[in-house]
Amino acid sequence: MRSRPTLTRREFVAAAGALLAGCANLPVPRAADDAAPRTTFSAAVPYVPTRPEIVQGMLDLAQVTKSDVVYDLGCGDGRIVIAAAKERGASGLGVDIQPDVIDHANAQAQYAGVDGRVKFMLGDLFTLDLKPATVVMLYLSVELNVRLIPRLKSQLRPGSHIVSNRFDMGDVWRPERSIVIGETPLHLWRVG
Ligand SMILES: C[S@@+](CC[C@H](N)C(=O)[O-])C[C@H]1O[C@@H](n2cnc3c(N)ncnc32)[C@H](O)[C@@H]1O
Repeated sequence: MRSRPTLTRREFVAAAGALLAGCANLPVPRAADDAAPRTTFSAAVPYVPTRPEIVQGMLDLAQVTKSDVVYDLGCGDGRIVIAAAKERGASGLGVDIQPDVIDHANAQAQYAGVDGRVKFMLGDLFTLDLKPATVVMLYLSVELNVRLIPRLKSQLRPGSHIVSNRFDMGDVWRPERSIVIGETPLHLWRVG
């Protein structure tokens, strides 16, 4: 009889991460499917992952380096913070209100070997302490961006960068710079 191969915990996490990476464009399972119910909040903005070339564009526009602390408010599977850590040497934090995407982000961080420098938390982005961040990434909506302005201006240090995928902040705070990658606008603000 053939013996069943056993996986180490690290191999299991790597395999799960690879599987999840291949499923990035599939609908994320709903929290209700979990065996054990967990805290959930309501998402005004659905989970739509940023495409890889747009992730690179956001990192470039924010000029992310290893001295940066990159926060992604509504982080989904964590791809922006993970890319910032893996490719630019930054550290970072992501927060999302969907438990399943936070689990996914933590598995992906471990798979990418950056779990020592990044952290993903379940929570509401409107209650997160933003003071440690030097770069804030957004892919939300104009309305949520505008609601965030008081927190961004009061908590971030002068010189901190904010980059938003697609959505600006209306007339309330004009971006310092906007670029278009393909058909996707990206916007940059610098805290004064
Ligand atoms: C368009 S997705 C962007 C995901 C990721 N930032 C990316 O670019 O790939 C927006 C994410 O924001 C999350 N979100 C919406 N409202 C939130 C809130 N109040 N607090 C935390 N996360 C929120 C959603 O659950 C969703 O995963």
